[in-house]
Amino acid sequence: MGDLQPQIVVVVGSGLMGTGIAHGFAAAGFQTRLVDTDPRALAAAEANIAKILNDGVALGKVSSENAAASLARLSVFNDLTAAAAGGDLLIETVSEKIDLKIGIIIAAQDLLARGAIIATNTSALSVTEIAAAADAPERVIGMHFFNPVHKMKLVELVRGLATSSETVAKSAAFVDALGKTSITVNEAPGLTTSRMSAMMGNEAMYMLMEGVASAEEIDTALRLGFNHPMGPLELGDLTGWDTRLSVLKYLHQTLGEKFRPCPLILKLVAAGRLGRKVGHGVYAYENGAKVPGSGLKGAQ
Ligand SMILES: NC(=O)c1ccc[n+]([C@@H]2O[C@H](COP(=O)([O-])OP(=O)(O)OC[C@H]3O[C@@H](n4cnc5c(N)ncnc54)[C@H](O)[C@@H]3O)[C@@H](O)[C@H]2O)c1
Repeated sequence: MGDLQPQIVVVVGSGLMGTGIAHGFAAAGFQTRLVDTDPRALAAAEANIAKILNDGVALGKVSSENAAASLARLSVFNDLTAAAAGGDLLIETVSEKIDLKIGIIIAAQDLLARGAIIATNTSALSVTEIAAAADAPERVIGMHFFNPVHKMKLVELVRGLATSSETVAKSAAFVDALGKTSITVNEAPGLTTSRMSAMMGNEAMYMLMEGVASAEEIDTALRLGFNHPMGPLELGDLTGWDTRLSVLKYLHQTLGEKFRPCPLILKLVAAGRLGRKVGHGVYAYENGAKVPGSGLKGAQ
């Protein structure tokens, strides 16, 4: 961890992402404080972090001593005020509502250590707008993690209009200490990842609608031809076509015509075929597994 030891990281929101982020920092040697207003979410996060560590031990990736030390570095809090005191990095990863995020930053900013970084894990909201509510917007940055955090190597650092170069450099050092790779992007709709993924998924749907190829063929093309772990239609089924549609509508509104949502996506959403979460999207699913041969055949 180099120069950063023994820094205190405060993770606010112990849902899906907060759990993974807190695990990552605790395992990397940071004193990690995980905060949530919902005690059930906190208890579930603690249990999930212990499970990730135990699985690591079972697979021989982590020693049992390191797993125990990681857990010992983690503490959980219901109260943001107590958790934020003296923190060197605060990452808010509460539900995607701007008022909630801004409220946390306003409540925590005076309690953190001098020069602390304030990061938001927002997927889509404006970092500039969130930062504008802080007393020192130059210390605020987007730190966009990927799910599942313990497996995904990328963190997208998002520079708002006021974010300082020092904040970017310190944030990149935190990401390095996690053993992950950061890229730095200027704030823009969809950043790099969501914009690219939305474009690919939309284009795959147009090809399917035009009858260029079946769903299975399009997904196989990207898996075997480009070595993607999953095809774009399989990925859309995993993300959920309702979520994908709302991202596309936003990109269409902000970036223009090339992001117009494919009519086949509108059709799937209207039919309630939202993807894996409801058992049916481009493919059908049974007991969580894709039913072979169930993909749409094209020219819909
Ligand atoms: N799910 C993903 O794949 C993903 C990927 C990248 C970024 N994100 C972003 O990360 C953030 C969190 O997403 P998630 O999927 O973990 O959500 P989630 O719903 O699983 O968890 C959110 C947590 O925030 C807690 N919370 C709400 N208000 C709070 C408050 N005032 N103080 C403390 N805790 C509070 C909730 O109790 C809940 O446990 C969102 O901004 C989302 O856009 C999500």
